[in-house]
Amino acid sequence: MKPGINRRQFMQKSLVGAAAAPVIARSVGAEPGPAPKPVAPNDRIQVGVIGVGARAHQLLGATMAQDGVEIVGVCDAYTGRVARSIERTGGRAKDYGDWRALLDDESIDAVIIATPDHWHKEHALAALAAGKDVYLEKPMTLTIDEGPEFIAATDKTDRILQIGSNGMSSKLQQTAREIVKSGKLGKITLIRASYDRNTDSGAWLYPIPPDADEKTVDWKAFLGPAPERPFSLERFFRWRCFWDYSGGMATDLFVHLMTTIHYVMDVDMADMVMATGQNYLHQETHEVPDTLNAALTYPKEGFTVSLSGTFNNAEGSQGGFTIMGTEGALVFQGRELTFKPENPVEGNGWIVASWPSALEEAYWADPEVQKRETPGTWDSRMNTEGETWSEVGPDSTVLHMGHFIESVRTRKPSVQDARRGHHAAAVPHMVNESIKRQAPVYWDPQREVLKT
Ligand SMILES: NC(=O)c1ccc[n+]([C@@H]2O[C@H](COP(=O)([O-])OP(=O)(O)OC[C@H]3O[C@@H](n4cnc5c(N)ncnc54)[C@H](O)[C@@H]3O)[C@@H](O)[C@H]2O)c1
Repeated sequence: MKPGINRRQFMQKSLVGAAAAPVIARSVGAEPGPAPKPVAPNDRIQVGVIGVGARAHQLLGATMAQDGVEIVGVCDAYTGRVARSIERTGGRAKDYGDWRALLDDESIDAVIIATPDHWHKEHALAALAAGKDVYLEKPMTLTIDEGPEFIAATDKTDRILQIGSNGMSSKLQQTAREIVKSGKLGKITLIRASYDRNTDSGAWLYPIPPDADEKTVDWKAFLGPAPERPFSLERFFRWRCFWDYSGGMATDLFVHLMTTIHYVMDVDMADMVMATGQNYLHQETHEVPDTLNAALTYPKEGFTVSLSGTFNNAEGSQGGFTIMGTEGALVFQGRELTFKPENPVEGNGWIVASWPSALEEAYWADPEVQKRETPGTWDSRMNTEGETWSEVGPDSTVLHMGHFIESVRTRKPSVQDARRGHHAAAVPHMVNESIKRQAPVYWDPQREVLKT
């Protein structure tokens, strides 16, 4: 950092002119899609929302924070959320009842899809086919095989698809990407990432609204493509605990870590995943594991990722991770990023203490040894005070939504398109598959699915 510049100024300076986000080229040879429907810069973009649950209410706020955008329609399978979302738009949004009716309305330019994961493919592909631009919440897929279908669908349309792993739009992650690109960390060989929680809400055992029953909840609409099951408010409101609707901790939480790792490291996809998963303390409420550990390899780029998570202790907190290089580490925690330079001190004192005395004395008399080593130290890190950046300005969800709206308006490619969304979710799917098979699983880069 230059003298006279404080961290905040440095942060702002370093972000000026930074690429807002990576752009992945659309495949060539795509079939022609419907004619582009450009939005004139002064036009208002009309947005509909499919699934106005907990996350969608945050997205409503992020969308209403954008200029020239209006939420005009909503639909949901629980009446309480429809009413609350209309209230949140100041009464402007209309209830379409069914998602198909919302997609049939030609005046709607773009849709936000924030339904449970088992609905993502059907809702998103139908919206693209209806000519809408789509903001789809993460994880893009419920199964790894859905990924290529998404890629094929976006390759044959000019519509925008942006996946909702918002962290990658944060200024901190852009800064981290610049630092990694600059080579400041030296050779990176290991990334450690975790998501640890120790509460009911952290483990998705959310409160169920007291008015929820068979009259206020449309069970058939919720189930959709999922297997038939008897009416269950637990399944409806705590769907992440069940394999029919979710891939559990891997697809719900690790997907954020993977989006970030792929973005910050500018890499495409892991080659191999080996994982363990256990449900130690949540057998009564969860089909999915409450404790996960996974190792992923990136042989081309020469590094390994270690992912772990538990619902039984909150030590690693909300999505922390550390990128470890020979010259320094980058540590993410919450809204802070810290660079810690490496300055290890050699410590062979205990080894030479076993040598003949004369040889030990001669060892310490050597000026080269004195330069790199102090008697009594053992591999300690000295002078490791680092630089820290804090996230300032809007929340990453507002920034991510801003990127989507910018793409809708200018037709600039999506910052998190189908291929990127597929890879971020495919790693978590490989984690679950490895647990099931009790064996490593491998990626097939040609077919973009698991190697058979
Ligand atoms: N980016 C993030 O940080 C973040 C945070 C939370 C959730 N999410 C994602 O957002 C999505 C929704 O999660 P949530 O926590 O809001 O869940 P939620 O259960 O609170 O909301 C989902 C809503 O979808 C509705 N729904 C179900 N089937 C429907 C259908 N056929 N038509 C219309 N509505 C339907 C449900 O009634 C419910 O209100 C998930 O994919 C989740 O992974 C992302």
